[in-house]
Amino acid sequence: MTIPKESILLVDDEEAIRGILSKGLGARGFVCDEAENGDQALEKLKEQASDLVIMDINMPGRKGSEVLPEITERYPETAVIMASGVTDTKVIAKCIKDGAQDYISKPFRFEQVLTCVNSTLDKRRIALEIQRYFQDLGKKIGRNQNESRQLFFGAIQTLVTTLESKDTFTSGHSHDVVETSMALGEKMKLDTKEMEDLCWAAMLHDVGKIVVDPNILNKPSELTTTEYRHIMTHAIVGPNLVRPFVNDKIVEMISHHHDHYDGGGLDQTVVGKDIPLGARIIALADAYHAMISDRPYRRALSKMEAMEEIQWCSGSQFDPIIANVMIRLIKEQIFQPRNTK
Ligand SMILES: [Fe+2]
Repeated sequence: MTIPKESILLVDDEEAIRGILSKGLGARGFVCDEAENGDQALEKLKEQASDLVIMDINMPGRKGSEVLPEITERYPETAVIMASGVTDTKVIAKCIKDGAQDYISKPFRFEQVLTCVNSTLDKRRIALEIQRYFQDLGKKIGRNQNESRQLFFGAIQTLVTTLESKDTFTSGHSHDVVETSMALGEKMKLDTKEMEDLCWAAMLHDVGKIVVDPNILNKPSELTTTEYRHIMTHAIVGPNLVRPFVNDKIVEMISHHHDHYDGGGLDQTVVGKDIPLGARIIALADAYHAMISDRPYRRALSKMEAMEEIQWCSGSQFDPIIANVMIRLIKEQIFQPRNTK
């Protein structure tokens, strides 16, 4: 018996494009349906939720970019790939922020679409598997809190290790970020509850990398803007993944761990002291360990060079107060991270 492949809703005002995609994807076992505008797409999804939606950004009637937030909110298990002939990076960034998993430029070759579909559906399968696993653990936590909390914590550590194994250059990174965040938090006199939340957030800060293409994660040269934006989707996906199992403070820390103190980060919504304190701490710990580790496209910085870099970015990328504490900590050599040169 052949197992049917996932269902795909093709949303485009051009019948010819829908036809080509429907024929090609149908021949590869996908179950395809079609809609010619945003409203019709919503109606179709109401009748039968799809595993994937491939949607044009600009269409007569309601545009794809207009209905995207509604689709991702109502159907969180549906993956969305946006398509458009206009390559406006701001529009693409907005679509990714609104929950689209990927973007394809028109005109496209069918093989390109197929690669994008397969990779998006692969990531969706993994993300759903993890989400279901967490939900199952969540139910167990309700039954026997102590035992299940340990189980949950163990599962998270396994998950983080698995994720890091996708990235050749960051093995042990989350562990290092936890240690350094804890050292910073202690120095900044955080209370026990704040320290506990910070520990969870530091452990989980990169959990959203489950959806990041390993080829981009391990790219041996500098990233293009599009690739950088793709990697940064982990700060949107991660919080959604763990939201059912951790408190809102932890979710917020994970959401904002790439925010820059002066607002210069990607698509930031808060600036300065409005960025959660834990996120500002993790940002420092994360950046420090990235600096002192070898990357595919550059060598690791020495501790001295990392200190200079932190000083240089104090007040812009980093909270100046936390940057000072970090510099003091490095100088005092309170912690001895791996890969330190
Ligand atoms: Fe990150």
